[in-house]
Amino acid sequence: MAPAEANTATLLLILHTIEKMQATMAPAEENAAALSLTLRTLEMMQAAMTAMQQEGKDIKETELYILICQPHLLTQGMPLKVRQQINRNERFYTCFQDIPLTVVIQIFAWIPGPKVLKYLRLSKAINQCLITTQFCVLNLQTTRLQHDIAGLEVDGTWIRVHPHYQIAYARAMPKSVITIRSSCFRPMEKRIPESIICLTAVERICLDNCKIIGSIPDGIGALKNLTDLNLSRNSLTGTLPSSFNLLFALETLNLSDHQLSGEFPTLPSLHALKDLRINTNRFKGPVPTVFGNPQRLTSMNAERNHFSIIPATISQLTGLEYLIISQNPLACEILPEIWNLTHLSSLRMGDCKMFGLLAGVGALQNLWCLDVSNNQFSRELLL
Ligand SMILES: *[C@@H]1O[C@H](CO)[C@@H](O)[C@H](O)[C@H]1NC(C)=O
Ligand SMILES: *[C@@H]1O[C@H](CO)[C@@H](O)[C@H](O)[C@H]1NC(C)=O
Ligand SMILES: *[C@@H]1O[C@H](CO)[C@@H](O)[C@H](O)[C@H]1NC(C)=O
Ligand SMILES: *[C@@H]1O[C@H](CO)[C@@H](O)[C@H](O)[C@H]1NC(C)=O
Repeated sequence: MAPAEANTATLLLILHTIEKMQATMAPAEENAAALSLTLRTLEMMQAAMTAMQQEGKDIKETELYILICQPHLLTQGMPLKVRQQINRNERFYTCFQDIPLTVVIQIFAWIPGPKVLKYLRLSKAINQCLITTQFCVLNLQTTRLQHDIAGLEVDGTWIRVHPHYQIAYARAMPKSVITIRSSCFRPMEKRIPESIICLTAVERICLDNCKIIGSIPDGIGALKNLTDLNLSRNSLTGTLPSSFNLLFALETLNLSDHQLSGEFPTLPSLHALKDLRINTNRFKGPVPTVFGNPQRLTSMNAERNHFSIIPATISQLTGLEYLIISQNPLACEILPEIWNLTHLSSLRMGDCKMFGLLAGVGALQNLWCLDVSNNQFSRELLL
């Protein structure tokens, strides 16, 4: 397989030429030469692509051939029978329409998904084929190939393409996507598409630090096999959808650094949750403590939120090793239940306006990190 850039560049060159010509097209005679050239180029493309299909030629060779043909055409004088040709093919795209759709599909599949729809207006035939599910799938797969992503992954490309493509792909390939991961070298400023809920086999979503905006889709609970949801450091807003409680397989949830707000939902059906990071958001109300299997949670980071209550049910989180709730306006007395969490190795609750006695802390035999700074705890001794 040829380097993707070379293929795409060649095709884009040709398509840009066509596009330009279409824009300036007028019945005027000065366009005759240009039209003829385009016509010939297209014929060459068609011949080359058909040959490729028939003989199974390597796509690179074919496109090199097209490229080589172009300068040759450009240096040629205006053919004598141009006028006749123009008469026969009044507008050049009638010729484009003659190219078998299978060939058109092969050509356009190489143009990156976010851009390919620009070419819809080139001709009716192209319009027809670019919106088919078959094409959407092929295009995304080809682009994926170009990005050299191995295995069953969809990269950020899927998030970037037109919603029509997202839906078509998700519906056509619901079981083929196990991981959604983005290399995120370019900021996206995109929402998480609703159609993500069609990708029911997804196990991991890692879209951290991608400038994702908007809210989490309401239907996210449809992703029954999702074990890791990592969306940290984006710009998500709104509340968490209640369908979160249907993510039965979820083990790690990382929603740190957003502007998520409202109360954190109770998650009594989440039996596998081990690691919860929701730090640096605007969640309010009680610190989350209701999970399907509360003993399983080993780590919770809820610092820098607007939580105002520590419920007594925190005593159920007996597996907790890390509990970080600093910088929340808790303004309450410290709950004795905290001293029952004997697996804690790190307890950080600085800057919470808390008061009361720290006398029970001695029960935390595994503790090596304790931050109770900037509170109003009684000066009476700790241990
Ligand atoms: C979810 O995982 C189970 C167990 O691995 C598997 O049998 C099932 O087919 C998966 N669901 C989907 C929609 O792929
Ligand atoms: C989430 O993303 C961070 C940063 O890229 C990474 O360190 C972490 O391992 C990811 N977590 C999961 C569960 O994939
Ligand atoms: C959560 O995201 C932060 C920031 O990307 C990262 O440092 C951390 O390792 C992630 N944690 C998990 C469990 O994915
Ligand atoms: C917490 O520990 C104390 C003594 O260590 C015990 O009496 C109490 O029942 C425990 N509470 C819970 C909710 O486990």
